[in-house]
Amino acid sequence: MSLSIVRSRAELRARVSAWRREGARIAVVPTMGALHEGHLSLVRAALERAQRVIVTLFVNPKQFNDAADLAAYPRSEEEDAAKLEALGVHLLYAPSAEEIYPPGFATKVSVSGVSEGLCGAGRPGHFDGVATVVAKLFLQCGADLAFFGEKDFQQLHVVRRMARDLDIPVKIIACPTVREADGLALSSRNLRLSPSERAIAPKLAEILFSAARQVTAGGLVTATLEEAKAALLAAGFTKVEYLELRAEDDLARLEELERPARLLAAAWLGRTRLIDNVEVPLPAKAALRATSSADIAAGASTEG
Ligand code: PAJ
Repeated sequence: MSLSIVRSRAELRARVSAWRREGARIAVVPTMGALHEGHLSLVRAALERAQRVIVTLFVNPKQFNDAADLAAYPRSEEEDAAKLEALGVHLLYAPSAEEIYPPGFATKVSVSGVSEGLCGAGRPGHFDGVATVVAKLFLQCGADLAFFGEKDFQQLHVVRRMARDLDIPVKIIACPTVREADGLALSSRNLRLSPSERAIAPKLAEILFSAARQVTAGGLVTATLEEAKAALLAAGFTKVEYLELRAEDDLARLEELERPARLLAAAWLGRTRLIDNVEVPLPAKAALRATSSADIAAGASTEG
């Protein structure tokens, strides 16, 4: 089956209804296009779990708090469609702004709690824009499963909370962050980095992973975070917008590693803002993991 490109809600609904009658399980992967391997990893995961996969491509004006940022957002629908077709995606839903926000549109979905602080502090209105468009995309697509990247960890929490609170019957599935060989998390914003900024960028992941290991090993949280911020500035980042330890399950701010956590950061390299986050496991889990990977390594070496 080749990729269909659909632009209207009416046609989308007709396609989805036909799939429903066939009893197919349907997945959706919301994106803003300019697809890279991070997006494609979500698409592959969706294709493994569902019989029909919808990818949405909509550069959502409501989630940009800076008009220049919206204007500069990369657009490459033809290349995106070719990548999706090659993977075997069934439908690309690429509506116009008028289709999503017709004249008179006046509703806002606003999720409190998990949308506050972190990226919510530096980008006012951003998560309202995300929650509003994702709620609409969920209702329009009527999918059983929806795939999101851990790269945008706070967004994942906002979307989960919104779907739960609004009784939208969709299961949200989180997929791990895809990184370049040097550790830099894939992002369309990486293309904006100059060669010298690109050389500094992987330090964000490196410093986060190292701080996470220290916290798991029992390092004092406040001191470790302060050292990590200083290390980012010393590496050449021009500003650290935030660097915080938050609980994995509800994003509560943590001063100690009392439950599984994430270390999340946003840092600037000149005019480019990068975000990343890494898992901070409890010591018991980290030890278990080290033993099982040692077992695997030992097993692999005896076999071959
Ligand atoms: P966009 O930035 O295009 O990202 C689409 C999806 O790809 C998100 O779930 C994001 O977390 C995931 N993603 C991006 N980079 C990734 C990486 N390196 N590894 C794994 N997953 C990655 O996020 C949005 O669009 C928008 O806010 C959207 C949810 C579509 C609403 O407009």
